Amino acid sequence: MKHYLQFQDFTADEYEYLLKRATLIKQKFKGYVTHHTLADRTLAMIFEKASTRTRVSFEAGMYQLGGSVVHLTTGDSQLGRAEPIEDSARVISRMTDLVMIRTFGQDKIERFAAHSRVPVINGLTNEFHPCQILADIFTFIEHRGSIQGKTVAWVGDGNNMANTWLQAANLLGFKVHVSTPSGYGIDEQLAFSGRAYDKGCYQLFSDPHEACKGADLVTTDVWTSMGYEEENEKRKKAFAEWCVDLDMMAVAKKDALFMHCLPAHRGEEVQAEVIDGPQSVVWDEAENRMHVQKALMEYLLIGKQG
Ligand code: CP
Ligand code: NVA
Repeated sequence: MKHYLQFQDFTADEYEYLLKRATLIKQKFKGYVTHHTLADRTLAMIFEKASTRTRVSFEAGMYQLGGSVVHLTTGDSQLGRAEPIEDSARVISRMTDLVMIRTFGQDKIERFAAHSRVPVINGLTNEFHPCQILADIFTFIEHRGSIQGKTVAWVGDGNNMANTWLQAANLLGFKVHVSTPSGYGIDEQLAFSGRAYDKGCYQLFSDPHEACKGADLVTTDVWTSMGYEEENEKRKKAFAEWCVDLDMMAVAKKDALFMHCLPAHRGEEVQAEVIDGPQSVVWDEAENRMHVQKALMEYLLIGKQG
């Protein structure tokens, strides 16, 4: 049994399979072709933080695979009344086939997985967001072909998205140019969970414009992630120069793409002209969450197909 708790839990070969499978699954969805590979299987979705995309993509995706879902939040379950995470894992995993969790610390999802009888998927933690980066890479490949050898510019917070981009670069052979305000940088130990990595997979830049130079993809995220709301005012000041604008896009490659995991704050981390402009692929990126996660759920439950 496999879990998907961080990007580096899978090998490059497994990603090659998943991305190919997601292409087929997307084609079938677009052609209204039934694809019930997970008939009678149940996915439990546990949300300790808000969500639009993750909720809809997992829920719609599971129904499209012929399965069903159970939706739990902290507020409407015993999770919010301090039932131990280990006990919740034991119980929920006896009644369902697969669990997706969005929570705070990575340690929580690891404790859940350690006591679960079924595979567990990380639907975002403070440290990682592997399903999003899987969708982002799928989207890049759809638009531009292989991501190997390419350069991704990360402008903004050294957060869960940034950490996951670094794991992906290390595993799949591309490079990340990282520019964060001082005090909001990447913690390497945390980003790679203490595992060995190729130091060349990323480079730090104090100037976000320098980070964008020659990039094939420019990407950013909110200045204040969920769980850090009390730092919002302080962050607004610190991040003022880390807004992806037309000048940054102009120094990237001519055919560079812009991505944002969403939700976005126009006028903060990205100018409206960029996110709503011709280089932005954010709507494909959001839609692709569903296609890649269908491939992921299938893989965790029934292994490689075809
Ligand atoms: N990108 C993403 O995970 O969006 P939600 O917070 O809406 O799920
Ligand atoms: N970094 C953001 C991503 C939201 C999808 C957060 O954790 O809130």
